Amino acid sequence: MTDGRPYPLSTERLRLTPLVESDLDEVHAIYGDPGTWLHLPSGRHRDLATTAAMLGRSAESWRTAGVGTWVVRRGDAEARRLGVPAPTVIGTAAATAIDVGMLNLGYRFAPSAWGTGYASEAASAVLAAARVAAPERTMTARVLVANPASVRVLERLGLELRWSGGGTGADEVPTGAAPPSSALARRIYADRPLDHEQLRALIALG
Ligand SMILES: CC(C)(COP(=O)(O)OP(=O)(O)OC[C@H]1O[C@@H](n2cnc3c(N)ncnc32)[C@H](O)[C@@H]1OP(=O)(O)O)[C@@H](O)C(=O)NCCC(=O)NCCS
Repeated sequence: MTDGRPYPLSTERLRLTPLVESDLDEVHAIYGDPGTWLHLPSGRHRDLATTAAMLGRSAESWRTAGVGTWVVRRGDAEARRLGVPAPTVIGTAAATAIDVGMLNLGYRFAPSAWGTGYASEAASAVLAAARVAAPERTMTARVLVANPASVRVLERLGLELRWSGGGTGADEVPTGAAPPSSALARRIYADRPLDHEQLRALIALG
């Protein structure tokens, strides 16, 4: 375990800093953009308060699990290479504490930054940090089947498919759990086997 204080991360091309209040306007510009929510239009943040609530969840996660939400910017060399300003927020990557001893891995980038490998690079750094800070916690991720880029990111990270269901298609349900009421076909990934209680909690999150 770490001491629970938020800390920055860096990768070859990116700088990740813990989400703070002064980031909220830039993060909201991404989370409030319909283009960011092509796969789940209902998830768009319609007001700043919804984005601010992320800060609260992140702070709680830092306190209880020693990880939370990071804001992603390009590093100086990468920004210079592209001729863009380095301080611009391009996305978020997070490992957030959820029920039954689990973490949720999440990432969301501005559409202008998609397709560059940034999501994989940032999520990989967050996963590594979580393994140091909270090795006892199961890392999970939920993804829509209709979001193949995100599915690919999870698979590249080495997370394994633990459940698939929802939607109208008859997806496989490897654990034998009951299908969810969710209307959208979804998958649940995790870095280790999930027990029944964990799977139920994840399915209930939608
Ligand atoms: C999901 C998201 C983070 C991916 O960002 P990204 O910058 O494209 O991700 P990366 O470049 O790191 O990797 C994407 C991978 O998916 C692949 N991919 C992209 N579009 C694809 C498609 N339509 N079908 C199959 N694979 C696809 C890419 O080739 C790449 O794989 P590779 O590294 O093996 O070449 C980005 O689209 C996003 O922010 N979307 C909105 C928020 C979101 O959906 N978050 C995830 C919620 S679970």
